[in-house]
Amino acid sequence: MSVNAASGELGPVMCIVGARPNFMKMAPILRAFAAHEPPVPALLVHTGQHYDASMSDQLFADLRLPRPDLNLEVGSGSHAVQTAEVMKRIEPAIDEHRPSCVLVVGDVNSTLACALVAVKKDVPVVHVEAGLRSGDRRMPEEINRVLTDQISDRLYTTERSALANLLREGIAEERVCFAGNVMIDSLHAARPQARSAAETLRAHGHDPALLRGAMGYGAVTMHRPSNVDEPGTLRGLLQTLRRVAERVPLVFALHPRTRANIERFGLAGLVDDTRMILLPPQGYLEMLGLMAGASLVLTDSGGLQEETTALGVPCLTMRENTERPITIEQGTNTMVGRDHAAILAGVDEILAGRGKRGRVPENWDGHAATRIAADLWRWLASRPAAS
Ligand code: UD1
Repeated sequence: MSVNAASGELGPVMCIVGARPNFMKMAPILRAFAAHEPPVPALLVHTGQHYDASMSDQLFADLRLPRPDLNLEVGSGSHAVQTAEVMKRIEPAIDEHRPSCVLVVGDVNSTLACALVAVKKDVPVVHVEAGLRSGDRRMPEEINRVLTDQISDRLYTTERSALANLLREGIAEERVCFAGNVMIDSLHAARPQARSAAETLRAHGHDPALLRGAMGYGAVTMHRPSNVDEPGTLRGLLQTLRRVAERVPLVFALHPRTRANIERFGLAGLVDDTRMILLPPQGYLEMLGLMAGASLVLTDSGGLQEETTALGVPCLTMRENTERPITIEQGTNTMVGRDHAAILAGVDEILAGRGKRGRVPENWDGHAATRIAADLWRWLASRPAAS
């Protein structure tokens, strides 16, 4: 199936996006492919795992992503149903478009589903953001990471620790390229257009005066199943956030899963607080502005741990582990888990001016996608022609 680039018959690189955290990774890759000399042909496929305007369309616009060439419209479902639907619908697309490779990013269900179909059709799989490991196999993303890396032919990493993880799992070093962090490419590209927190609040009918106190404000996101799917855990975390809000006002961008569970478990009273502003899922430019202007960020997201490190904003991560250790070792991230006292102590440290300042990790310089385009072009050209 693969075609020799040197022969001039290079099939498109089939670029897969499915869920919100994929979009900021793919946008700079597509731009770098277009800017490469010669251009790397690309075909953008959206699986439709995320479909709400706020979870998808808005981000496409903010990130200047082109309209997808194909939308598989899989929608929501259990992990099995969602993964299976993506697999069923991507197979005929691969048959029709005969890509030179399938490029997947991150660790969502769409990532693994497309990689699995491609490898069984003898189409090379390219994984961007390879080698990250939380060590926690109860996380669906961890399963997606481990399996995708196992079946990938070319693996691009964001931090050096990822190579050690891959070697431990028997992946040959020649397959791995330390390209850096494409998500930070997006951050650099969009920073000048970021919306201020005040603008965002006004747009949603809130008075931004609340954010102008001596402590500034905290930006919050939370959506991991381990934090929001169990009523007792979600209640505990919301109670803690209420206590945090007594110290510093909070702006909380609610993921659909979290909003639904707050309703379902009867916890709406806990977030009904004048010092906690609830917003729907935010666009990229809004979220960037909210983070950049915050005194602190409280989150369970993987992406925000990296973005706060790049922005130099202290981040408290409400998880027991991270697959992005460099954000702790070099960046502004601190693991606080779900423990009430640990979260409040972390907040107090930051508000007392003792938050981590950190430094920006190697190759988080806005040029990761350019390195990927150059390497991938060389790699495709070096592969044997299709039989
Ligand atoms: C997925 C990713 C996760 C990522 C997150 C970012 C997997 C396993 N998880 O989790 O790694 O951090 O995206 O958001 O792929 N929903 C909507 N509108 C949408 C999409 C989802 O309302 O546009 C609701 C649906 O009720 C759905 C639920 O959110 O059942 C969860 O969506 P799903 O794609 O299954 O997983 P996420 O929790 O978003």
